[in-house]
Amino acid sequence: MGRAGAVLMAREHAAHLYLIDLDEEGGAGTVDLVREAGGNATFVHADVCDDDAIASIVRRIVDEHGRLDCAWNNAGITDVGRPFAELDRASWDRMIAVNLTSVFVCMKYELQQMVVQGFGSIVNTASASGLVATPGLVHYTAAKHGVLGLTKQGALEYNSKGIRVNAVCPGMVDTPLTQGLFDTNPRLAASIQRLMPGGRLGQPEQVAEAVAWLSSDHASWVSGLSMVIDGGYVNR
Ligand SMILES: NC(=O)c1ccc[n+]([C@@H]2O[C@H](COP(=O)([O-])OP(=O)(O)OC[C@H]3O[C@@H](n4cnc5c(N)ncnc54)[C@H](O)[C@@H]3O)[C@@H](O)[C@H]2O)c1
Repeated sequence: MGRAGAVLMAREHAAHLYLIDLDEEGGAGTVDLVREAGGNATFVHADVCDDDAIASIVRRIVDEHGRLDCAWNNAGITDVGRPFAELDRASWDRMIAVNLTSVFVCMKYELQQMVVQGFGSIVNTASASGLVATPGLVHYTAAKHGVLGLTKQGALEYNSKGIRVNAVCPGMVDTPLTQGLFDTNPRLAASIQRLMPGGRLGQPEQVAEAVAWLSSDHASWVSGLSMVIDGGYVNR
């Protein structure tokens, strides 16, 4: 999804994109696609849970470009499904660190800069699992519900500073993350696919469109929104 968003934002004339990920090869591939789309991008290898790394990336962006217009906090992981009562503490801690604490860390440094400049837009990737329970993934569900809490809190506290904070809640989208989940659990894949309206997963570009809109001035009066992009799954 991050790759699709980067390419779309490049097409829509984003001045410069900083792409943060642990996956160097994937990041380099996305930089190439951004350039092919006519944009500029820099890949930064970093862990989104690392306070010092995120603080220094925000400083670098401001040093090189003078401001941070928009941020999309999108990195995330999933896990094998297990019943609630059988989830071990290490898996819980890892999920909360990567899918929830990282969003707090990134928002904190993004907001600090956006307050100084007096404007900015933040989009967080939550999930349909931020709105409803997901069988076998209590830690994922809890983290994504938490992302919506961070979004609402950020929107409330920083509205008066010219900063908008919104979230997207994708349903099942066809990405490496879902492929990994389905490879380890084909029965889950089949049952989820049956629940999807039209029997189809979403495409990353369909989420990217919403993120680009929320990031842009076209959404200038939208803040605190949890935008569901799921082909009607949650509403079924
Ligand atoms: N695919 C879906 O069906 C779906 C549905 C709802 C929400 N989401 C959420 O969308 C977001 C993007 O997921 P995706 O489906 O594109 O998955 P993906 O696996 O294709 O991309 C996730 C990226 O996050 C990176 N990442 C993971 N941990 C990181 C860390 N600690 N630091 C830096 N980078 C890290 C990975 O290297 C990967 O490139 C995630 O937050 C995910 O929870 C996905």
